[in-house]
Amino acid sequence: MTQPLPPGATAEGGVAAVVVLAAGQGTRMKSSLPKVLHTLGGRSMLGHVLAAAAPLAARHTLVVVGAGREAVEDHLAQVAPGAQPVLQEQQRGSGHAAAVALAAVPDLDGPVLLVNGDAPLLRPETVTALLDAHRAAGNVLTVLTAEVDDPTGLGRIVRGADGAVRAIVEERDATPEQRTVREVNAGVYVGEAAPLRRALGLLGEDNDQGEQYLTDVLGLLVAEGAPVGGAPAEDPVDVLGCNDRRELAARRRTLNDRVLDELMRAGVTVVDPATTWVDVTVTVAPDALLEPGAQLRGTTSVGTGAVVGPDTTLVDTEVGAGAGVVRSHVLGAVVGPEATVGPFSYLRPGTRLAAGAKVGAFVETKNVEVGEGSKVPHLSYVGDATIGRGANIGAATVFVNYDGVEKHHTTVGDHVRIGSDTMLVAPVTVGDGAYTAAGSVITTDVPPGAMGVARARQRNVARWVQRRRPGTAAAKAAEAAGDAGADAAADTRAEASE
Ligand code: UD1
Ligand code: CA
Repeated sequence: MTQPLPPGATAEGGVAAVVVLAAGQGTRMKSSLPKVLHTLGGRSMLGHVLAAAAPLAARHTLVVVGAGREAVEDHLAQVAPGAQPVLQEQQRGSGHAAAVALAAVPDLDGPVLLVNGDAPLLRPETVTALLDAHRAAGNVLTVLTAEVDDPTGLGRIVRGADGAVRAIVEERDATPEQRTVREVNAGVYVGEAAPLRRALGLLGEDNDQGEQYLTDVLGLLVAEGAPVGGAPAEDPVDVLGCNDRRELAARRRTLNDRVLDELMRAGVTVVDPATTWVDVTVTVAPDALLEPGAQLRGTTSVGTGAVVGPDTTLVDTEVGAGAGVVRSHVLGAVVGPEATVGPFSYLRPGTRLAAGAKVGAFVETKNVEVGEGSKVPHLSYVGDATIGRGANIGAATVFVNYDGVEKHHTTVGDHVRIGSDTMLVAPVTVGDGAYTAAGSVITTDVPPGAMGVARARQRNVARWVQRRRPGTAAAKAAEAAGDAGADAAADTRAEASE
């Protein structure tokens, strides 16, 4: 969510400025978060819009902020530090927002892209095509339009008998006849800075909302006889806005379908596109396999031949070639080539599995290096540790890293065998080739090759069950087993099982 956006390619003949209108509250979202900060596909809506405009290589990128401005400005500083926030104190309409932005760059000359901040499906190709159409027609203003099945709530494009664009009419101000028009304003415009600035200065507020509509600029320029046009988007889906949570879900689905289509075209197997979610920032190599319920987020990358899922979430994680992660939750980790994870494990930031390493079932890891071919097969917590190569960590081992105040490090050498249910109380080192006995609480270093034993010896209290639990099924079973301990009046000590 906070990844910096990729730098824009330097397109020839870009624009003088990109202006993103993002000051509105987005009331219909019913959210404390400003609308443009809602995310889909791993980016905010605002981030998607900025990414779409990036190839225009604008000298100025201005983002009009107002409602929730601090949050929007913080977000911009993270994802697009080159963009300049411009404050619109009062939300007096999209036209007023555009005028405020242009006032921040008084010497601007040439084409300006104006775009609503709530158009997350906008693609660079769509924006570039609009600019090309604007240039080819020699317009002072060109609006991106779209033919949609349901134009409810959108501004209608009013064309004259000759087919030329005459005006944009908002739905609430439209006549019944105008409402039947299905060609709508996408909320993306290219205008020449000087005439645009002048026309914005003429905007009134004589409409149903009492706002200065950016859309009225078009009619004003037409009245002056200036060349104005409408360029239909190649794919109307690209320009769909996002005003409430239902639309957000629908846009997210569309965006995800796009990402998966691209992956499949590139040779990735997606078993169930309906339940597989991949952020736009993720990379997946050909011949990787995504099982149902795979979610790949952030900077995650998956290598060739790797299998992810079913039911696995990877966030900012690198999965190497041929690796497998099944039914697990993985954050900020590196899973080396041919390494395996899961089912049912939780890998936290700083986990690095070398080639061929294994983290099996019900294991939690954090800030740990697991060496080549080493295994943590079952039911363990492994935190703040370095594990060498070829080691085996027995079931139910705990790396006891926290003394209640500070975290401490554990080092486990090459080819170590940690016995099941060992507590490794950090800071502690188990040397190369050493073993620990099952059930040990290891508090001091184990030298290379040594067996660390740290547990009470076993003692058997003979005939305890028959004496203390007479008449029970256990006592009867013990009797039936024969009286192996009959002559042992005293307690016996069992051989230590080391
Ligand atoms: C707008 C268009 C409509 C178009 C639709 C496409 C206007 C008047 N109408 O309608 O023709 O079909 O987009 O999605 O522009 N904003 C500000 N400051 C303000 C008011 C709005 O920055 O004072 C920003 C909003 O944050 C938003 C954009 O301008 O990103 C558009 O405003 P919104 O209220 O969403 O307009 P719509 O009703 O969707
Ligand atoms: Ca809108």
